[in-house]
Amino acid sequence: MKRPVAYVAGTGRGIPERVMTNHDFAALGLDTNHEWIFERTGIVQRHIASDAETTCWMAAKAARQAMSRAGVGPGEIDAIVLSTATPDRLLPSTAVDLQAELGATRAAAFDVSAACSGWIYGMTVAEGLMQSGVVETALVVGAEKMSAIVDWRDRSTCVLFGDGAGAAVLKRARPNSSRGILSTFMRSDGTLAELLWRPSGGATIPFSERVLQDRSSFVRMAGRETFKHAVRSMSEACDRALDGAKLRAEDIDILIPHQANVRIIEATAKYASVPMDKVYVNVDRYGNTSSASIPIALDEAMESGRVTEGTTALCVAFGAGFTWGSMVIRF
Ligand code: ACO
Repeated sequence: MKRPVAYVAGTGRGIPERVMTNHDFAALGLDTNHEWIFERTGIVQRHIASDAETTCWMAAKAARQAMSRAGVGPGEIDAIVLSTATPDRLLPSTAVDLQAELGATRAAAFDVSAACSGWIYGMTVAEGLMQSGVVETALVVGAEKMSAIVDWRDRSTCVLFGDGAGAAVLKRARPNSSRGILSTFMRSDGTLAELLWRPSGGATIPFSERVLQDRSSFVRMAGRETFKHAVRSMSEACDRALDGAKLRAEDIDILIPHQANVRIIEATAKYASVPMDKVYVNVDRYGNTSSASIPIALDEAMESGRVTEGTTALCVAFGAGFTWGSMVIRF
């Protein structure tokens, strides 16, 4: 097994206050109901951010908690890697807003765009920066205000997503320590981009009256195809991360998958031969918070004592792109 370069020194989460249950969609005039949503996805409720609870605001809340738990001050952070599909504005990045908010004056800050896999991608990038010797301490955040980009008139997508942020402080691993990131895996397939996308609102089809009218700047998803690719890709990613760490499924204490849909989670766990009592599930309370979902789940797992010193965790993600990735971390 390789000696880890980086370890997780602290985690945190930033969750907006307002809770929206499945029953609340009736008030929007949507033809849906709790039973349909719960049976298909396992989702019961999600948090929806207010105007004041921006992507940066949620990220800062998560980051401050992670930094406090890691005992790291803003001046010690060398890099801020923030994954988001919902930046507060298109230029500059939300990561620089977060840097300013935290007062992390020494940090290089940038966003990563890999949709729901973004936090795994961000962790891998931060680990690479440490490997190169440029960075000693990094803040890796997944922060998403999905409520701003879903079409609230489209019942097939808006019921699935929620808002929130999760963060981890990564520090250089101590020599000869076995604690830290043991393996990482990342893949993408851009030929499938249009199965889950926002057709307009970028540089090719900028915002216009027509875009607003045809609602093509909102998320569109081919649900069934996405489901199939998610299970296949997350299963592959579990294998690759275990191979990379030279571990077997029974060596894993906890599986922390991207929280999109409980049926995808169950299928992935089955394929990976990890029993459901070792799988962390909170999609019922948050819905799909895209790249925030794994760090939120990890933070809850640490807070509740399901992840403690010595725990070996397998994290696995899948998202728009398609992108997928995985990581074995020893705590
Ligand atoms: N309430 C009631 N009925 C609905 C709703 C709703 N909210 N949404 C769709 N329906 C209807 C459809 O219109 C369709 O009706 P029809 O048969 O009359 O045409 C019917 O329900 C079945 O629709 P399907 O889309 O085939 O339903 P499916 O069983 O595939 O479930 C779902 C849909 C839950 C979206 C599923 O495909 C899924 O979970 N896909 C993966 C989505 C996902 O996880 N994406 C995220 C991964 S990537 C990332 O995280 C960004």
